[in-house]
Amino acid sequence: MKDQLMEIRKKAEEELSKVQSMQELESLRVKYLGKKGQLTSVLRGMGALPAEERPVVGQLANEIREFIERTLEDSRQNLMRKERALKMEQEAIDVTVPGKRRFLGKKHPLSIVMDEIKEVFLGMGYEIAEGPEVELDYYNFEALNIPRNHPSRDVQDTFYIDENVLLRTQTSPVQIRVMEKKKPPIKIICPGRVYRSDAVDATHSPIFHQVEGLVVDKGVTMGDLKGTLQVFARSLFGEKTEIRLRPHHFPFTEPSAEVDVSCWTCGGKGCRVCKGEGWIEILGAGMVHPKVLEVCGIDPDVYSGFAFGLGVERTAMGKFNIDDLRLFYENDVRFLRQF
Ligand code: PHE
Repeated sequence: MKDQLMEIRKKAEEELSKVQSMQELESLRVKYLGKKGQLTSVLRGMGALPAEERPVVGQLANEIREFIERTLEDSRQNLMRKERALKMEQEAIDVTVPGKRRFLGKKHPLSIVMDEIKEVFLGMGYEIAEGPEVELDYYNFEALNIPRNHPSRDVQDTFYIDENVLLRTQTSPVQIRVMEKKKPPIKIICPGRVYRSDAVDATHSPIFHQVEGLVVDKGVTMGDLKGTLQVFARSLFGEKTEIRLRPHHFPFTEPSAEVDVSCWTCGGKGCRVCKGEGWIEILGAGMVHPKVLEVCGIDPDVYSGFAFGLGVERTAMGKFNIDDLRLFYENDVRFLRQF
């Protein structure tokens, strides 16, 4: 029986030293120490031993049980330590890995310029008006004194939706919509998107932006227009900026002018940007045509007004020194991040 016990001890020690998991450990515990385990069944056979041998065998059996219990416990601790180490390794975070760079969103350069233009005119007491981009022929042309056979109505320039409906080619229809509803004094700007059937190149796009301005009151003169545009040009392009009005024709203003600003790059000496001219055209303007006031129910003998229209893309190109308008629409973040 002693030999049997020693054999059990040897096997148990051997098996426990190889144990890999908690389940294995548990089945070994059952195998040796459980109710039907090997040690238990040996002890059950003790009754058959001579009385003087029993205490000796009993003591040995107890020692072996204690030995197995201790070894089980050691193995359990060992396994737990291994498991924890493995978990630590798997969940480890490498704090030296470089972070992913995130960029903050920014305002689009056209919005920056649009907002700046709005600021200047809001500062001079203007209100902001809006109108539809899908517009009636009446507002875009007819009421603006642009007759049926006028070249700017050419289907090559205008996106017609049907005979009477089109995508507005200018922000001027908003003048009419405002004057129809509101009597003078009127002092508004209308920033917005306009459409013309132009092929895309460095200076043209079928969609672009204008800011329209309209002032109607008693005694408004061309001098008021010039002074206003000068304040505007200087706050946008710098204090030294000069403006120049050149006679022009628009059906809805009389007299009409195209407005140039002194070149933002050379200051007027002549350079590549202004093509040697010293001046760059950015606006159309003039005194509101009496016929236009009349159509809106405003008496041209009592009131007068001035209007101007400004290209936002062209202004932004000047302000930021950009030579290709397509950059505004491509939304390449490397371009947009610079503003
Ligand atoms: N609507 C004109 C254009 O698009 C600009 C303009 C506006 C001219 C107001 C005079 C007065 O060319």
